[in-house]
Amino acid sequence: MRLLSIALITLTISAMAYGQCTDTNSSGSGTTSCFCNANYYGTSTDAGGSGCQACAPGSSSQASNAVGTLASSCVCNDANASLTSNNSACQCNANYYGTPNSVSGGVSGCTQCGSGLTAPAGSTSNVCASSNATTSSKLLQIMVLLFLLTILI
Ligand SMILES: *[C@@H]1O[C@H](CO)[C@@H](O)[C@H](O)[C@H]1NC(C)=O
Ligand SMILES: *[C@@H]1O[C@H](CO)[C@@H](O)[C@H](O)[C@H]1NC(C)=O
Ligand SMILES: *[C@@H]1O[C@H](CO)[C@@H](O)[C@H](O)[C@H]1NC(C)=O
Ligand SMILES: *[C@@H]1O[C@H](CO)[C@@H](O)[C@H](O)[C@H]1NC(C)=O
Repeated sequence: MRLLSIALITLTISAMAYGQCTDTNSSGSGTTSCFCNANYYGTSTDAGGSGCQACAPGSSSQASNAVGTLASSCVCNDANASLTSNNSACQCNANYYGTPNSVSGGVSGCTQCGSGLTAPAGSTSNVCASSNATTSSKLLQIMVLLFLLTILI
């Protein structure tokens, strides 16, 4: 047991001395210089973090050269898409709709709304609508009300 501990400690020390990172999702010259690999974010367990985690599907990141990167350092491969607020997936940007292309450099899977039309971020189907639709319907309501008032008087 004691021999095993000594062997393990020796292994760890030599791993550090030879610049290896035990967190397989990171690389570098050991401990505080273990940085997350490309397509990973977070803080290497070698640097005292909870580990480098894979970017959300359809997003990617460059190999880090600093300890601790944010989930938002992963960028969606579709130029017209961005990560959701909890960084768990890619979605089409506001005023676009569709399913983001998971491959970078390809044609966007997100289609832009027509001129003057808007859609919320994350729209998967064509829900593009005139942004002043509510204003128009309110105006109509006021006009109907005025018309009714005129009749009453
Ligand atoms: C390495 O990444 C994989 C995929 O995200 C994850 O399941 C695993 O827990 C990570 N390893 C560490 C040590 O965090
Ligand atoms: C992230 O948010 C989406 C809704 O926007 C939800 O469906 C999903 O479960 C969330 N994922 C996590 C890991 O919290
Ligand atoms: C993103 O959308 C714009 C406008 O529709 C388009 O010109 C551009 O090519 C799209 N990006 C990609 C990568 O297809
Ligand atoms: C409503 O939207 C249309 C289409 O974009 C635009 O032409 C029009 O000027 C807008 N009207 C108002 C009152 O903003």
